[in-house]
Amino acid sequence: MAENITRRTSLKSTVLAGTAVGLSTLTTHAAQSKTVKVALVGCGGRGKADLKNFQTACQILQLDCEIVALADAFEDAVIAAANTFEVPADRCSFGFDAYHNVAASDADFVLLVTPPLFRPLHLEAMLKAGKNVFVEKPVAVDAPGCRKVLELGKFATANGLGISAGMQRRHAANYLKNQALVQAGAIGPILGGLVAWNGTVPWVKDRRPDWSDADYLARNWLNWVEIGGDHIVEQHVHNLDVANWFIGHPPKSAVGFGGRARRESGNSFDFFSVDLDYGDNVHIHSQCRQISGCFNRVGEEFRGSKGYVLGGGKLVGDPSITVPDPKVDSDNDGVQEMIDMIRGVRSGNPLNEAQIVAEATGTAIMGRIACYTGKKIQWSDLFLNPKSEWYDFTYGVSPEDFENGAVILPPENIAPIPGDGKPLRHR
Ligand SMILES: NC(=O)c1ccc[n+]([C@@H]2O[C@H](COP(=O)([O-])OP(=O)(O)OC[C@H]3O[C@@H](n4cnc5c(N)ncnc54)[C@H](O)[C@@H]3O)[C@@H](O)[C@H]2O)c1
Repeated sequence: MAENITRRTSLKSTVLAGTAVGLSTLTTHAAQSKTVKVALVGCGGRGKADLKNFQTACQILQLDCEIVALADAFEDAVIAAANTFEVPADRCSFGFDAYHNVAASDADFVLLVTPPLFRPLHLEAMLKAGKNVFVEKPVAVDAPGCRKVLELGKFATANGLGISAGMQRRHAANYLKNQALVQAGAIGPILGGLVAWNGTVPWVKDRRPDWSDADYLARNWLNWVEIGGDHIVEQHVHNLDVANWFIGHPPKSAVGFGGRARRESGNSFDFFSVDLDYGDNVHIHSQCRQISGCFNRVGEEFRGSKGYVLGGGKLVGDPSITVPDPKVDSDNDGVQEMIDMIRGVRSGNPLNEAQIVAEATGTAIMGRIACYTGKKIQWSDLFLNPKSEWYDFTYGVSPEDFENGAVILPPENIAPIPGDGKPLRHR
């Protein structure tokens, strides 16, 4: 099925032609045809799951789904996906520049499911080629990346394109109902709470001799802040998003601590504990840990003046306040988010979740910098104040470096020491 997939570095001319297709041609196709054309960049575990969810969403909406392009940095990953989804080799490509082929394809929808460092670059390429885009969370590893996604959100709106984000809790009936109840005042104003993702290290990829620095970083991305953002950003962002959603806005500042005790790969912390100040004396305790053999907990808890709510679970509050049950088509929130995306585009009213996901990512980055440095970090440091040292702070590895062969591996097993005022910088 997936024989003869070639590295696509040589096809940059195709890219230019594809970019010139123009926005209106593609958006018209997405809105009218019974066949929905989809493409995937990043064919790993979540990429394949998102593509399957997209197919299921099409079935529920009684639409035909055609996979027109698959791209991954690595040949083995794209072959595995091609075989799973029975996609012909001439629609598949690999290499750090393979996303250009997806931009040049005739996909209506593109799913971006690489490690987060690449998200702003890939999102820009897809929007400029007229695609509606699903972006997995998180959408950046630094503040400039978050601000870029906010800008691209405005570009999408101006051009009638959709951006949906992998924040599936926002498409789940239980969370939607509880958020609506909280907004209607069922627990009174939120006074404080706790959000947590305490679990184990998901995985580590040991370096092989034939891997370049870029290959090692891209394959073992979960353990490197430069490409994965550290687990407060990569994983805990889900719970932080729920806090922003239920409270109604992102926090104003963060103070925290964390450290690295057990990892033997990359440079991420093992644990974070952050006090998020949402203003008006509302504080949320954010805690996340990736260490095996400890007490695990994943979820959210908010206390109000009249009761409390546990994320999408139990709500104790004013029984006289009711809201209608949310209308969902699937019990699977990963499928529902795809349904909502496709339906929005086809109805001419595309979803735009760029701000939601950029703010959740920014919340996590603010917490991470607070813990890496031991300083109090303000929202304005990341989003509003160009004079802040954190406003333009990026790590020494850019997404373009991977395409240009310029990646240099940061020192391994060296983590930031709070108190020296700087997050890890390797050059
Ligand atoms: N919404 C959720 O619940 C959820 C769950 C899991 C993962 N995720 C997110 O999905 C993303 C991917 O996670 P995963 O678990 O699938 O990781 P993974 O390592 O299984 O897959 C990532 C894939 O991206 C490829 N890749 C790396 N750099 C690339 C590049 N520049 N261009 C093209 N392909 C590239 C890798 O080769 C790999 O196949 C992450 O952002 C993660 O946080 C979201």
